[in-house]
Amino acid sequence: MPTAAARKSWQRGAGFLGSRHAILGGAMSWLSEHNLVAAISEAGGFGVVASGSMPPEALRREIALTREMTRQPFGVNLITLNPELMALVRVVVEEKVSHCVLAGGLPDQATIDALKEGGVKVILFAPSPALAKRLVRRGADALVIEGHEAGGHVGPVATAVLVQEILHQVEEVPVFVAGGIANGRMVAAMADLGACGCQVGTLFVCTHECVAHANFKQAFIRAQSRDAVVTVQFDPSLPVIPVRALANKGTEAYNRLQLELVRQVKEKVKSREEAQLELERFWVGALRRAAIEGDVEFGSVMAGQSVGLVRSERSVMAVMNDLVRDMI
Ligand SMILES: Cc1cc2nc3c(=O)[nH]c(=O)nc-3n(C[C@H](O)[C@H](O)[C@H](O)COP(=O)(O)O)c2cc1C
Repeated sequence: MPTAAARKSWQRGAGFLGSRHAILGGAMSWLSEHNLVAAISEAGGFGVVASGSMPPEALRREIALTREMTRQPFGVNLITLNPELMALVRVVVEEKVSHCVLAGGLPDQATIDALKEGGVKVILFAPSPALAKRLVRRGADALVIEGHEAGGHVGPVATAVLVQEILHQVEEVPVFVAGGIANGRMVAAMADLGACGCQVGTLFVCTHECVAHANFKQAFIRAQSRDAVVTVQFDPSLPVIPVRALANKGTEAYNRLQLELVRQVKEKVKSREEAQLELERFWVGALRRAAIEGDVEFGSVMAGQSVGLVRSERSVMAVMNDLVRDMI
């Protein structure tokens, strides 16, 4: 039975999202398209379309397709590194999407302002206590704190530490917790600690509604928690955001590319920004290769440590019911 305080936080989160449950389906590039997003929203959660490297008109189409499948609220995730970011922001505003999650680095003020002026609620990732406060001052309507356990691009600090560092310091806006959350007892514990809700990615990959290739889902089902490892940065001349994925030949290819790009940056063949963009493009392609084409040996099988808790493919509704069982 949740405490009164937990119930209050949970209701604040659900009220902010406009959904029955305060569970965001973490946007996953290539996978969080209309089928998965609509299924999460239909199950009472809050689905989020991953725009990844989509051009603006593709995003507009995804929004329309999602609306054909659900009348429940859902959001859009934009990557700030996308060279077409402002055009994507315009699509989000024109299509009257209610919430936008900005990921992939600190968004500039113009991006936040354009969304807010368009009536869109802005959700931002807060990697540290100081930045959390700054993001609230800059207009964040809600924050996500995402621990090192998560899949995909990750920060350096564990969920349990971020909860203590940030959750209790930010009262102004709802704070959602992500990274390693994979069952209802964990969700209830987070609400008890004051989280307004949770964001979950890895757990939604092995669902019937997710378009991931069967090989990708099988790799998740077979993996242990310890198999989802983080890449390292080889040299300070080329700062990179670590990525958590199942270790395979794709990870080795990334390491080789990073080493080569470090050399090119040092020899001034490429600028740091060009090299960083090339590495991000590598991930976009490698994830597609594994998640959509099924090449789980050479592609990137991005997964959080909670992959060890994924044991079968189920419906989104079954996964959602497990997550919310102690909160309803
Ligand atoms: C395959 C995969 C792709 C992801 N792609 C994105 C993305 O495009 N944008 C983003 O903000 N987060 C992305 N994430 C992170 C998720 O949105 C979510 O925050 C994370 O999965 C939560 O932690 P968990 O994996 O422990 O559940 C991705 C995660 C995975 C596993």
